[in-house]
Amino acid sequence: MENKEEVLVLAIESSCDETAAAVVKDGREVLSNIIYSQIDLHTLYGGVVPEIASRKHIEKINQVVERALADAGVLLEQITAVAVTCGPGLVGALLVGVSAAKAIAFAADKPLVGVHHIEGHICANYIENRELEPPFLCLVVSGGHSHLVMVKGYGEYEVVGRTRDDAAGEAFDKVARAIGLGYPGGPKVDQISREGNPEAIFFPRAKVGDSAYDFSFSGLKSAVLNYVNGCKMRGEAVNQADVAASFQKAVVDVLTEHSIHAAVAYKADKLALAGGVASNSHLREAMGKACARCGIAFYHPSPVFCTDNAAMIGVAGYYEYKRGVRCGWDLNAIPNLKLGERIHGR
Ligand code: KG4
Ligand code: ZN
Repeated sequence: MENKEEVLVLAIESSCDETAAAVVKDGREVLSNIIYSQIDLHTLYGGVVPEIASRKHIEKINQVVERALADAGVLLEQITAVAVTCGPGLVGALLVGVSAAKAIAFAADKPLVGVHHIEGHICANYIENRELEPPFLCLVVSGGHSHLVMVKGYGEYEVVGRTRDDAAGEAFDKVARAIGLGYPGGPKVDQISREGNPEAIFFPRAKVGDSAYDFSFSGLKSAVLNYVNGCKMRGEAVNQADVAASFQKAVVDVLTEHSIHAAVAYKADKLALAGGVASNSHLREAMGKACARCGIAFYHPSPVFCTDNAAMIGVAGYYEYKRGVRCGWDLNAIPNLKLGERIHGR
């Protein structure tokens, strides 16, 4: 820890239902990654309850930060900068992380770097793929977002496609609830699909007329709900595994097709996945095969770096720090922050 060149980022993430802190060295080496998941608390209600999330973040934030420093074997004074997710996300949840980061940075006299949550998801790919560098195309699919992003350079993004309605993860969660799998739906649909027939039921693959790379999942979600209601009205049992596998195939087909088209159009020879849905085994397999057919190198993070974590914020924070980003003490939570939008102090 004596090397003056070394950049150690303490990162904080609290945009939804994970309270997380991490220490990242020189942008790519994760020294610690502490995640307190609130999933059990929210399962009771079938989804994230914002007020409960904020309260739990307050309770846990100092604990996870202390553990992140201890696990990394780093003292606060050795940290170079403090990075924090400042948007998008639940405002009350974001505020806890932003306030904690500001207090720590102020008290320890360290620079403060605000990070966009999606930028964090994208940067998760750098952790285990040391050779990966921009430019590349990234499909970011999580509970709140479905974006196709051209990563032109570190901190330089062009959104080339996005969902017009539901996010991919949201569709997974709603379909899981409709067929009685509970919350959070994504991993459960993934799991049960292995026992189902993906060709059993044909669900629509929506096209968005005026944009080749945009997504729409609400029609698909309604088609699944209608199918399930139809079965119930006829007194027929719903085959959970077949519905899950058929729904999952419809989502994966659209995500894969649009991503490959965009990669070809933007001449990207590298394609990465990011976000919670990126841990879906069928999506990884289908995208891997499609990329191989087209001569595109394929990247994805391990599941622990796909779902919300602070290590990814530490990586993004490092590159923003290197670009000279420093935020003021008036940094605020921005629930609808756009990717690439100026964060205070830039
Ligand atoms: O990135 P993330 O942790 O939080 C947001 O930024 O939204 O993503 C959570 C989402 C949830 O909708 C969850 O159901 C979905 O990711 N997810 C999955 C899988 N694991 C998590 N969806 C499909 N298959 C999975 N294996
Ligand atoms: Zn996320």
